[in-house]
Amino acid sequence: MSEINENLTPESVQQEALAEIGKAQSASELSEVYNAFLSKKGKLSQLMAMMGKLAKEEKAKFGKAVNEAKQAITEAFAKKKEESEKKELSERLSKEKIDISLPGYDFGVGHINPYYQVIDEVTDVFVSMGYEVIGGTEVESDHFNFELLNVPKDHPSRDMQDTFYLGNVEKLLRTQTSAAQAHTMLEKEVKTPIKMISPGKVYRRDDDDMTHSHQFAQIEGLVVDKKVSLSDLKGTLELFAKKMFGEKREIRLRSSYFPFTEPSVEVDVSCFNCGGKGCAICKGSGWIEILGAGMVNPKVLSDCGYDPNEWSGFAFGVGVERVAMLRYGIDDIRRFYQNDVRFLKDFKGE
Ligand code: PHE
Repeated sequence: MSEINENLTPESVQQEALAEIGKAQSASELSEVYNAFLSKKGKLSQLMAMMGKLAKEEKAKFGKAVNEAKQAITEAFAKKKEESEKKELSERLSKEKIDISLPGYDFGVGHINPYYQVIDEVTDVFVSMGYEVIGGTEVESDHFNFELLNVPKDHPSRDMQDTFYLGNVEKLLRTQTSAAQAHTMLEKEVKTPIKMISPGKVYRRDDDDMTHSHQFAQIEGLVVDKKVSLSDLKGTLELFAKKMFGEKREIRLRSSYFPFTEPSVEVDVSCFNCGGKGCAICKGSGWIEILGAGMVNPKVLSDCGYDPNEWSGFAFGVGVERVAMLRYGIDDIRRFYQNDVRFLKDFKGE
């Protein structure tokens, strides 16, 4: 009895497979064709299995026919598969057309904290006037924070109640950016004119409430040159006030006291809310205090290596949060540090 299954010849398998491939309409129908003919249990494998049982002289002829059938089926299958994939892709693309008129998603862009917006703005104003920006360290020595700034040993700000000391009375968290004045003057090996600002954090032992914080920011300013006068200070601060708070703003200087400036002044700006008539923001006075300033005390100049007979200078210190609170109508200083996104969202900046 012949081992050859008469119904399963390379020719019949090829014919059947090509017909099935021609009929297949989808990826799933094609995969059925693959299983039926090309897989391990498919008809081509069955033909191969039959070969072992053939007589030698028939084997070569049969094998050649099986290989030819396999090649024809494989090629036709690959061609059809490619066609069907292309067809499916173009169908999918036309179905998934993107509607570019649909509104996009809101990704909730972050905003710069008004505290940093004010630092950036003040910095820009002074840089445009030719000032250099100087860094500083928050951990300071008594020498730079107090001694070189002519703050006497018995001054209340040196009190344990007011200053954060670090281990001993020589090391502390700076209470004012004025420490940068002494650093800048002393670091000049050859004494040349200075025009600098120095923004940064300062620390005081205050109990936190709506208007006080144990940590806040200041921007120090220092100009040292030959023949610097109080009118230079006034002109500079007037320009600053106008750029920060509007062209119509005016400033006034009130006499004050700081150990490192002589004379010392508090600087008020005409109220940007009511224009000077009096309102809740300026507490009816028409003026708002924005900073402390003065002419650099000759003792400070000479302790820092600048001969006061030759040099003079002015200095000022701006409270960053105070300016931001006035400018944006913020009622509580603690909001700057709480990172509440709802608060930050209100200050998108320009
Ligand atoms: N350092 C002063 C303060 O913290 C401000 C100031 C700076 C005053 C520079 C005069 C000159 O209050």
